[in-house]
Amino acid sequence: MRALVLIGGFGTRLRPVTYDVPKQLIPIAGKPMLYHVLDLLPKEVDSAVFATGYKADVIEAYVRDHPLPRLPITTVHEAEPLGTGGGLRNAGDGIGDPFVLLNSDVIADVDVTALLAAHRAKHAFGTMVLHEVDDTRPYGVAALDADDRIGAFVEKPEPADAPSHWINAGVAVWSEAVLAEIPPGRPVSFEREVVPGLLPRGVFGFRSTGFWEDAGTPERLLRAQSLLFDAGRGGPGTLPAGATGQGPVALGSGVEARGAKFGPYVTLGNGVVVEAGAHVANSVVMDGATIGPGATVTGSIVGPKARVAAGRTLAGVVVGGSADA
Ligand code: GTP
Repeated sequence: MRALVLIGGFGTRLRPVTYDVPKQLIPIAGKPMLYHVLDLLPKEVDSAVFATGYKADVIEAYVRDHPLPRLPITTVHEAEPLGTGGGLRNAGDGIGDPFVLLNSDVIADVDVTALLAAHRAKHAFGTMVLHEVDDTRPYGVAALDADDRIGAFVEKPEPADAPSHWINAGVAVWSEAVLAEIPPGRPVSFEREVVPGLLPRGVFGFRSTGFWEDAGTPERLLRAQSLLFDAGRGGPGTLPAGATGQGPVALGSGVEARGAKFGPYVTLGNGVVVEAGAHVANSVVMDGATIGPGATVTGSIVGPKARVAAGRTLAGVVVGGSADA
């Protein structure tokens, strides 16, 4: 069985760091969020297709340099963004029946083996993982019957129009026949234009109660990082040599942080320097960035090779690659 992963978005809500690094390669809890997404796939899924667009060359180079032995990956590049449906159609040739469809920016604890079992047991055309949230406005919302069959699906409804609190979690199993239902050669939103028309063919919800976060904004990305650490999916989380404070801290190679203070919930990329007296908490500091002496960085994402000045305080800030802050 194969998985198709949608990786073509611009990541506008994470600018300016996404001008340099595609969202999927931002490291959280020690590795790119994309690799946490791939961790969900059970052995039964033995290869993956990436539908890439924005910064496809950067993603392809990273995947080539960091292969997953159990999961050979091929990439299909969109010359122009085709949206979630167009990207699926464009990359889906020969995907197999059924296949797993993944958003690349959703950090979740979903049992995909159980999802596949439910899909088969119900002879479903599609089975979408659903997660329960209070505020449904940014998401696609499903109405379910007593058998968890989806009777209506509304993308980003006003609260009064939301049929439930169960939202599309960005993980699903679909019959290969879904591809023929997507108009070719133009941008298509799978959730808005395609899913509602598929419901009569038998689309079911799979209610997931594990943790879930859409890591598409800075605050949610950092919350996703803390969820991964708390779930033990962030590595050992030890403090850098000579540093004080509280883990977990996921460390790249060659980190220098003597005399700095940390924690909790920090990822430091390769070659990061955190000078003495600096304090970093609930943040991501990417490869080659420098945090000056006495600076305080909390709730922030610091792009690759960025420099945070001595004594600066950054709270809830996204710093672009190679920028001075
Ligand atoms: P924002 O610009 O911040 O909204 O982020 P985004 O561009 O990633 O959009 P969104 O979070 O809505 O995307 C959901 C998923 O679909 C992500 O995994 C995206 O990478 C992916 N995606 C969005 N648009 C496209 C597209 O045009 N083509 C492909 N292949 N994937 C897409």
